[in-house]
Amino acid sequence: MKPEDLLDLAMKAREKAYVPYSAFSVGAALLTRNGRVFTGSNVENASYGLTVCAERNAIFRAVNEGERAFDMIAVVGSGEGLTFPCGACLQVMSEFSEDLKVIVADQNLQYKMFSLRDLLPQMFSL
Ligand code: THU
Repeated sequence: MKPEDLLDLAMKAREKAYVPYSAFSVGAALLTRNGRVFTGSNVENASYGLTVCAERNAIFRAVNEGERAFDMIAVVGSGEGLTFPCGACLQVMSEFSEDLKVIVADQNLQYKMFSLRDLLPQMFSL
């Protein structure tokens, strides 16, 4: 699957975001090594810290369907410029696929691709 196709799915997932507090919607689409795609959007809460990012929602969905090896994740937010995954989401990505390709896009779906190692060179491990 091409980055553009995964980005389209992330954009579609973003429509489902529940963002009454920040009004900043994010969509993510995760491609597994088996060729399956799982999407997620951010889900906020009145107790702000309980908010779950789009990326983690996509990853946890995939893991709950038995997938643990990932090839690529596309992320698109509603702000100006590129939306990069937060540090918490990078750490969760690193749990499963240290060489994940991370695609970050802007509103017009102009994107850049990074390796997870570039974004989180010193990941925590036990
Ligand atoms: N957010 C994500 O969904 N992914 C990120 O990587 C960064 C932040 C969400 C959390 C919150 O709902 C909103 O963006 C503003 O922080």
